[in-house]
Amino acid sequence: MSNTATAPNPVNSLPPSPKKAHWFFGNVWYLLKGPIDYLKECSEQFNGIFRLTSRFLKMVVVTEPEYVKHIMQDNNRNYTKWFKNDVLELILGHGLLTSEGDFWRKQRRLAQPAFHKERLARMVDTMVNCTQKQIEKLEQLPGKKNLDISKEMMELTLNIVAEAMFSSEVKGAIDVVSHEIEEVSVMATARFNNPLRLPIRYPTPANLRERKSIKNLDDVLNPIIRERRKSTEHFDDLLAMLMEAKDEDTGEQMNDRQLRDETMTIFLAGHETTALALSWLWYLLDNNPVPAQKLYDEIDAVTQGRTPTLEDLQRMPYTRMVMDESLRLYPPAWLIMRENIEDDEVGGYRIVKGTTVLIPVYTIHHDPRLWDEPEAFRPERFSKENAKSHHRFAYFPFGGGPRQCIGNNFALMEMQLIIVMMLQKFRFKVSAGFMPEMHPMVTLRMKNGMRMDIERRT
Ligand code: HEM
Repeated sequence: MSNTATAPNPVNSLPPSPKKAHWFFGNVWYLLKGPIDYLKECSEQFNGIFRLTSRFLKMVVVTEPEYVKHIMQDNNRNYTKWFKNDVLELILGHGLLTSEGDFWRKQRRLAQPAFHKERLARMVDTMVNCTQKQIEKLEQLPGKKNLDISKEMMELTLNIVAEAMFSSEVKGAIDVVSHEIEEVSVMATARFNNPLRLPIRYPTPANLRERKSIKNLDDVLNPIIRERRKSTEHFDDLLAMLMEAKDEDTGEQMNDRQLRDETMTIFLAGHETTALALSWLWYLLDNNPVPAQKLYDEIDAVTQGRTPTLEDLQRMPYTRMVMDESLRLYPPAWLIMRENIEDDEVGGYRIVKGTTVLIPVYTIHHDPRLWDEPEAFRPERFSKENAKSHHRFAYFPFGGGPRQCIGNNFALMEMQLIIVMMLQKFRFKVSAGFMPEMHPMVTLRMKNGMRMDIERRT
């Protein structure tokens, strides 16, 4: 590929690496201590690609959009997902997030129609009803002060994905699944933090707890799938769509094991990211009163206080711009990771096979070479006229290339409905003395949640 961003360099040399290095752990020491600041510092020093030294891993970071495109799109077949970890495999099996190659391609083809826009339109009612229930819950809270709003958003998005998947036919099961999925997410995050933890086959107390949660999930999901197979009733939910999906060429359908893996994957991938996106958005609105007012005005003018419809959402361009800008500043999937199967050349540098390639979405979304005043919250960047001015891989909260998020339209519709309905009623204010702190794990969490007071707008 062409070398657009780096200075000429000896062909096939390794990318440059920062001088500052820990005597034992190399550069990676600084990455682990504070990834957001360190990646920013390095990306300012290098031109789109650099290497981080470590005794244990070959690691390269890519921040130039054209190079990101090469890895995620043009040469994507040379790159696999990075997280090969026994717990994720146990939880998600061979679901979309964790599978590779031909198997992944076949599953993706089968699952894709369930996420088409016209199918998603049928989920508006589910999303509206769940949001309405959450609003009623918030309205009944005494005081409405110093609340961790990220917990409320997590509860809401998990309910939405559960109902979208199984309808409300299995209410009791949804509660168990919600609870266990939350447990498993916390445990998966703890494991991500501590790579030295013993593999799940060892019966340590933490591993036994993890295994128990996974078993509880299986005990709920498997009977639902079995019952559905026998049922003659008509369902219009994600599970029904996944069950009906047929491979165009072979006529093959998903078996029970594949259905279990895909439902589990969609649960896990489909709630925390959206909840974090909303929590950061409430925070940004409180800090940016002028765009916030513009947003309230659009919502009030279009809906006149009634429950929003899909057509209403299409008439709210500013709401969408606010969402885009918020996903730029706080992308929930802040870091994408890959590993190359064969040697590759990126920006004139050699990427040795088996290298862990980091694509720091957050760093790219904040790069002053790509964005004017990158820290400023300016929804106008995403107006119809301006949106086309940035590179496809300068802004990619949902990833890109063939492994792009399958739930992106689901998430955008869900976020927009929640924003409109919540802001018809409430204004979210950061609680006095609270300052959210980024906690970059698998997703871009906050260290101590998002403490907010809820004021009534109407
Ligand atoms: C704001 C919310 C969301 C964000 C920011 C987000 C982000 C992403 C990103 C960046 C990827 C690609 C990861 C990579 O390339 O390594 C991804 C994949 C995926 N997402 Fe999302 N996501 C969101 C919501 C959802 C929802 C609502 C669902 C399901 C209902 C979902 C299901 C998935 C699945 C199944 C994959 C794997 C796709 C594949 O590899 O074929 N996501 N997501």
